[in-house]
Amino acid sequence: MSVEIHKVTEAELNEQRAYGERVKALTADRYASQPAACVVTYGCQQNVADSERIQGMLSEMGYTLTEERQGAKLIIFNTCAVREHAEDRVFGNVGALKKYKLKNPDVIIALCGCMMQQKHIAEKIKNSFPFVDLVFGTHVVHRLPELLYTALTRRKRVFELPDSDGVIAEGLPVIHKDGARVFLPIMYGCNNFCTYCIVPYVRGRERSREADDIEREFRELVASGCKEIMLLGQNVNSYGKDLKPAVSFSELLRRLNDIEGDFRIRFMTSHPKDCTKELIETMARCDKVAEHLHLPFQSGNNRVLKAMNRGYSREHYLSLINYAKELMGDSLSVTSDIIVGFPGETYEEFLDTVSLVKELGASSLFTFIYSPREGTPAAKLDDPVSYEEKSKWLRELLEVQEKVSAEQMALNKGKTFKCYVYGKGKLGDNYLAARTDGNLIIEFEGGERLIDTFQDITVTEPLTYVMKGEIKKL
Ligand code: 5AD
Ligand code: SF4
Repeated sequence: MSVEIHKVTEAELNEQRAYGERVKALTADRYASQPAACVVTYGCQQNVADSERIQGMLSEMGYTLTEERQGAKLIIFNTCAVREHAEDRVFGNVGALKKYKLKNPDVIIALCGCMMQQKHIAEKIKNSFPFVDLVFGTHVVHRLPELLYTALTRRKRVFELPDSDGVIAEGLPVIHKDGARVFLPIMYGCNNFCTYCIVPYVRGRERSREADDIEREFRELVASGCKEIMLLGQNVNSYGKDLKPAVSFSELLRRLNDIEGDFRIRFMTSHPKDCTKELIETMARCDKVAEHLHLPFQSGNNRVLKAMNRGYSREHYLSLINYAKELMGDSLSVTSDIIVGFPGETYEEFLDTVSLVKELGASSLFTFIYSPREGTPAAKLDDPVSYEEKSKWLRELLEVQEKVSAEQMALNKGKTFKCYVYGKGKLGDNYLAARTDGNLIIEFEGGERLIDTFQDITVTEPLTYVMKGEIKKL
């Protein structure tokens, strides 16, 4: 299978900028004041990153950005397809816009993101949601100015959903919601085809941004005062394999770690199949790389892992974690994703997941009940266990994890963490709040001049969700 990735050219970007100017002129003509646009984002960090670029383009086109749907002249839902629940929420919220559109026919309602990239969903929008004006897929986000211009000037609805292995668009304007903590996509798409997952079908093939482009954006973020930068990809461990010459993720981390400044590098998501010892060593050695490993294992049972097409065993997963614990010790924080009730999973197999949770000692878990996704291999498998039964399993798992988390919390007493002090605390007037590498919150008493700095903080009292601490005594 040959893969065709399209790198958006400067000429294409200029064409879009010209469309943007036309949108600006048109809306300036149509409205007395700058029109407001509301972008609603569902799902993962990649979607958040896409929305930040959508907002960047909208701002260049003369829109003001608002969180309020009421009063907005443009409403865009950036959707998520990873589970049915996310899709149902989108349908509910889009349905609720019908009245608004009837009262305000000049408003443009647009849908984009992973859901739209599925043919049956696009059909449903076409047939059952006639008040939606513009639908565009994950591969044409950079063409928003053109699509919006068409939607504003043509009386027909616009559906732009090309199939593609993928696109890379550099140099789009971007607006970060929280300037101190931002997402930086380093690659797009996924090649893994885990049997339950829709992502490879809606996001295209793996494609890495050039290391120079990433470094340039990274340096700009640091220069603008950004303190925590999260490198994003569906499987960051396979970053750079498609570049010529190839660059490994560890090399990229070392390169970014060498940049001058006071900041912390985070990354997600790692795939156990591609997670190397070199990566773990790099995490341990690079002082600016957070010692936090989000390494989803999905299931603790080898038969289920195989049926999921995950490409590793429980034993391999544990060997990676043990190596990471060996190198980083107490300061390492591990988090994971788990799917409960994969088709055909038995209760005994589920118990292997529970035992892995106990063995792992994760600081937190993201747990999901399996959700069939049309077009994926798993959706065709027999699934005899009821949703109610799976919910019971999930509750059992969560109870175990609650105990594990509480034990982990208690172990933190007396430990010192490098923390980013991000703002005022909630425990009292003179408390500040700080975040550890593993995203735990420690509150401590201190002056406001410490906000936006990194401090070593010793935990004095672990509470349930936050910890109390004090600045490390020398
Ligand atoms: N059902 C339930 N959970 C899923 N995930 C991905 N696809 C599905 C699905 N069909 C979960 C996985 C993944 C996380 C982002 O979402 O745990 O790691
Ligand atoms: Fe989905 Fe698997 Fe790719 Fe993650 S690695 S996005 S779970 S197919």
